Amino acid sequence: MDIGELVKELNTVYAEEWIAVYYYKWAATVMSGVNSPPVADLLNKIAGDEEEHAKELADRIIELGGEPEKDFENLYKIARCRKIVFLKTRAT
Ligand SMILES: [Fe+2]
Repeated sequence: MDIGELVKELNTVYAEEWIAVYYYKWAATVMSGVNSPPVADLLNKIAGDEEEHAKELADRIIELGGEPEKDFENLYKIARCRKIVFLKTRAT
């Protein structure tokens, strides 16, 4: 694998890590119920772990002479995960 392909692959995983951070944080924010505080704490901790993974990937991309993806709109374009589509989450 050449360096350009490696940087591209690392950017794909970098994008996936940020998407994971977003959804863990989102779930921690919107959850409710009597047992939700400890679950939200766990989700926020996992989000922190994923953010650290993104940081490590960014560091490696830079070491290889690349640039971590800077355009937020491109994260879903370069990630391999499917877009999450939510059904109605709250009664209105
Ligand atoms: Fe991760």
